[in-house]
Amino acid sequence: MVVRGTARNPAGPGLKSLNAIQMPKKKDIQKREDVGLLVRRFYGKIRADQVLGPIFNSMVTDWEAHLERLTDFWESQLFLKRTYIGNPLAVHQQVDDRMDQGIRPEHFGLWLNLWFATLDELFEGEVAWIAKNRAQKMSTMLYLKIFEHRKK
Ligand code: HEM
Repeated sequence: MVVRGTARNPAGPGLKSLNAIQMPKKKDIQKREDVGLLVRRFYGKIRADQVLGPIFNSMVTDWEAHLERLTDFWESQLFLKRTYIGNPLAVHQQVDDRMDQGIRPEHFGLWLNLWFATLDELFEGEVAWIAKNRAQKMSTMLYLKIFEHRKK
């Protein structure tokens, strides 16, 4: 009979218990290159998504310019830089018009899920947390403004 586990270490004396195995710690978002990686990985997921993919793939004509613009946007959000100049509210109202006023809360839910998943995959720390929090607040605000715009 082979008795391996003990009360203190159910994996057995020769094996590390699962609790003792340390995953390497991820770093936080620290600089523009990190933001660029985050944005590129995120839009890779967006483009592959069944629901969001066709919307983005039909509307974005120059992907390289879009990715740089979104890197500017998030760099400005997270590091108080002024690299992004634009009007996301107006852009999303136009996107909604082009979708025959078809943006739904579900689209924002899917967008946020992918944003959170990408952040969790790559980073951890305060700035990563702020990136989640900002996106969540923006999604509510963007949707309300889109809705207001429809009534005009
Ligand atoms: C919190 C959620 C979101 C954030 C923070 C966000 C942010 C942005 C920003 C900053 C831009 C670039 C604006 C510019 O060109 O100046 C953009 C573009 C765009 N967004 Fe969003 N977005 C969000 C959700 C969504 C959702 C849910 C959809 C689709 C249903 C969407 C569709 C698009 C499209 C298609 C463009 C490109 C428009 C174009 O270049 O013609 N976004 N977004």
